[in-house]
Amino acid sequence: MGYADDVFDLTDRVVLITGGSRGLGREMAFAAARCGADVVIASRNMDNCVAVAKEIQAQTGRAAMAYQVHVGRWDQLDGLVDATYDRFGKVDTLINNAGMSPLYDKLSNVTEKLFDAVVNLNLKGPFRLSALVGERMVAAGRGSIVNVSSTGSLRPGADIIPYAAAKAGLNAMTEGLARAFGPMVRVNTLMAGPYLTDVSKAWGLDQDKTNRFGQLSLQRAGDPREIVGAALFLASDASSFTTGSILRADGGIP
Ligand SMILES: NC(=O)c1ccc[n+]([C@@H]2O[C@H](COP(=O)([O-])OP(=O)(O)OC[C@H]3O[C@@H](n4cnc5c(N)ncnc54)[C@H](OP(=O)(O)O)[C@@H]3O)[C@@H](O)[C@H]2O)c1
Repeated sequence: MGYADDVFDLTDRVVLITGGSRGLGREMAFAAARCGADVVIASRNMDNCVAVAKEIQAQTGRAAMAYQVHVGRWDQLDGLVDATYDRFGKVDTLINNAGMSPLYDKLSNVTEKLFDAVVNLNLKGPFRLSALVGERMVAAGRGSIVNVSSTGSLRPGADIIPYAAAKAGLNAMTEGLARAFGPMVRVNTLMAGPYLTDVSKAWGLDQDKTNRFGQLSLQRAGDPREIVGAALFLASDASSFTTGSILRADGGIP
């Protein structure tokens, strides 16, 4: 294990994770701390962020900061970045993970408010955070940004069109940011397929009656813990020659 430990080592790195309080983000936050990182857990519900931060500190001995933020609100993001740099002095890895896709029954019932909320959270927020953190990473001479996208951006279902479009924008943005921030800073897309988290419950994936998962090569949905290997790869120096890429951790979508 010694060799792998070195490759994925995050000792004394600082990892900022939006949506780190639940689901995939929570797993990635624990994993980063277990590899030695101090972490920032940022989401709307402060109680959840504090609870997860306390658990991480107790289990790993690493520092964990909770921060309340709505990632879809541009004007709240400077505060998150400033608070992180005030506390830790740097960010080594930014994981733009917070995301959501509200359900709608038909396209004409998609309101402008819903459309904007989806784009704001899944695309606009990650852009602003990447801009704020990425430039500081360049000045510091190192860094990795991981944008959590969705296979919906490649295979957009009829029920997730605004979300799929926002995530497709995120894929494109990732490649552009990799050019903007190279060679010091790497930027990659971590593309998730179906995982059994709160958002997938809202989508009905946990009680899927149509056996949609049967079409995946692995014929099942993912456990949230199964995102960790891919996330650590992109977050750490294990991926030192990987940038502007899309890594699919999706069970093998058809
Ligand atoms: N699970 C899947 O099947 C799946 C598939 C493809 C892609 N993804 C992507 O993977 C990422 C994580 O999804 P998940 O399944 O882990 O979702 P989840 O279980 O619903 O967790 C979402 C996290 O994001 C936070 N969040 C939601 N809206 C936010 C906002 N406006 N501002 C700040 N934080 C916000 C939530 O905390 P608060 O409620 O406290 O804000 C929570 O910590 C998302 O980008 C999602 O699009 C997931």
